Amino acid sequence: MRNFTSQGKNSLKALVTGGTGFIGSHLTEALIEEGVHVRCLRRKTSDLKWLKGLPIEFVHGDCNDKTSLEKAVRGVDWVFHLAGVTKAIKEETYFEVNGLGTENLIHACLDCNPRLQKFIYISSQAAAGPGRNGSNKKESDPCEPVSLYGRSKRAGEEWVLTHAHELPALILRPSVVYGPRDKDFFALFKCLSRRIKPCPVGADRHLSLCYVQDIVRGILLAAETQTKSGEVFFLSDGKDYRMEEIGDIVARAMGITAFRIRVPRQMIWGIACFSDVLSKFSRRPSLLNRDKAEEMIQKDWVCDITKAKTLLGFEPGVPLLEGAKLTFEWCKKEKWL
Ligand SMILES: NC(=O)c1ccc[n+]([C@@H]2O[C@H](COP(=O)([O-])OP(=O)(O)OC[C@H]3O[C@@H](n4cnc5c(N)ncnc54)[C@H](OP(=O)(O)O)[C@@H]3O)[C@@H](O)[C@H]2O)c1
Repeated sequence: MRNFTSQGKNSLKALVTGGTGFIGSHLTEALIEEGVHVRCLRRKTSDLKWLKGLPIEFVHGDCNDKTSLEKAVRGVDWVFHLAGVTKAIKEETYFEVNGLGTENLIHACLDCNPRLQKFIYISSQAAAGPGRNGSNKKESDPCEPVSLYGRSKRAGEEWVLTHAHELPALILRPSVVYGPRDKDFFALFKCLSRRIKPCPVGADRHLSLCYVQDIVRGILLAAETQTKSGEVFFLSDGKDYRMEEIGDIVARAMGITAFRIRVPRQMIWGIACFSDVLSKFSRRPSLLNRDKAEEMIQKDWVCDITKAKTLLGFEPGVPLLEGAKLTFEWCKKEKWL
């Protein structure tokens, strides 16, 4: 059931945190297309390149500054909380932003927006942890995050669940998301463009993936559909990809053949440790750090999206071959490749 039937979408106002980032910028575009008035939280240092020319109301603020959040949440109908740290130099940064930052935003909503219709927290599959015994992870399974990132996203979820009785809130757990503007999965495109197909730690590892437009569709459905507060939903394209298969499909989308290079566990750890040291000097978080390595060596990262399909009507429409083609075309157009 849609919950904006009495109030056309044109009169809705939404706050997007993390709107300057990869998923947040796509969500912002989609909301504007739907006629929603969008307010974006931005920091002084935020790069606004993906949002240029869009009719957005910007509010300066930071998830670690509760006062700035009070202004941001006033008068909006929906809050989409995507601001987060996916890689960091210091361990505490994950918890400061993903955990405490979420708590600050929830308190700002409780104190300053009693009429809020929906608070949507974009968590991560990492908060639930990998699947065990070869079965796909369900929302009802216990959370066993293996990384600092995962534990900090779970901390954010716990804040949401603690306040779900007084704040209409939902938690979405996307799998790995890829598409235009993403810099993480892009590393695979980059390797393949050099004819290298990295195959980390054995071929029998499985992963869920999702094209960014499908994730955006899932987020919008979560906002529009009436559900119990505190519900949790996994989002992915619904497929189970073998690690090695992913490289093959992306290579096919790029129209190239690449040489398979096996990357043993020890090498992943070696690169991760070296990157951690480098990022301390350069003060820039690296793509593969020890925290990410901890996630990479897990066998099963496949989630079950039956609940999102049943309760939200979520139907992913972009399989990896098509999503990789769209991403590749975008990367060429933007001269990333
Ligand atoms: N990408 C994925 O595969 C994936 C998968 C599952 C879940 N997620 C979750 O989805 C969300 C968005 O991910 P993404 O890939 O789009 O990340 P991203 O491109 O790195 O964007 C992160 C966003 O968070 C903002 N941010 C970081 N720290 C902040 C703070 N202290 N206060 C306010 N804003 C802050 C950034 O703002 P600035 O522009 O100022 O840096 C940026 O807009 C994250 O919460 C992530 O955990 C992502």
